Amino acid sequence: MPPCLAPAVEVLPDAPAVARRAAALLTEALCDPQGAPTGLATGRTMEPVYGALVDRLRADGRFDPQGWCSFNLDEYVGLPPEDPRSFRAYMEHHLGRPLGLPPQVLQLPDGAAPDPAVEARRYGAAVRRRGLGLQLLGLGSNGHVGFNEPPCEMAVPCRVVQLSDSTRRQNAGAFGDDPGQVPALAITLGLAEILAARELLLVVLGAGKAGVLRRALQEPADAQLPASWLQGHPQVRVLADQEAAALLA
Ligand code: GLP
Repeated sequence: MPPCLAPAVEVLPDAPAVARRAAALLTEALCDPQGAPTGLATGRTMEPVYGALVDRLRADGRFDPQGWCSFNLDEYVGLPPEDPRSFRAYMEHHLGRPLGLPPQVLQLPDGAAPDPAVEARRYGAAVRRRGLGLQLLGLGSNGHVGFNEPPCEMAVPCRVVQLSDSTRRQNAGAFGDDPGQVPALAITLGLAEILAARELLLVVLGAGKAGVLRRALQEPADAQLPASWLQGHPQVRVLADQEAAALLA
């Protein structure tokens, strides 16, 4: 993959402006009847994005809940779909119920599958079979995308991963602020499936991500910062608020 030295970065004044812009781009992807499935993400960053997306889709005459097809990036291992802390529950809460989506059109790995490694292979194969159009991404504080924790090479496929202590701390909010309650394992799409998407949309909010965003975009791509592999994608767009973009040259 040729290096793309200047991913398009759109800096917007604040989180609501970023959310509206991301929602506009997602709406075009989700309302295109010929479009490939959309790749979706979870996390606090996506909450305003999905809020804006729900408003926008409800107002868009092209939106057809029956035509929805999406694949999420990841899921915790060990949490059944009905567990409110699962990413499945997050997606049903933020998109499925508000939009009246039919059951099962929001596709995620099954965190309660009896053999997570088998489930990861099944899910990765399903994503590769369909291919992704627009892939929405957040940015972990340690540079992870999906749950691809550093170090992570760019060719890795969907698999079971061990979550780092810093990620378990970052995500402890949904687990009573106790990192020890955050599952130690997750199933995540790999950089292989993510980089195979036609278009990538990285959304980054807040001063806390400014340093890692600068490194991801402006330092040589490296396994120690998985998001830096996005530099090699021919169509990557970054949406950042002013705080997150503060350290970009
Ligand atoms: C999580 C998810 C990622 C997400 C990232 C950032 O752990 N697995 O897909 O983008 O970390 O999360 P947040 O938006 O809450 O900062």
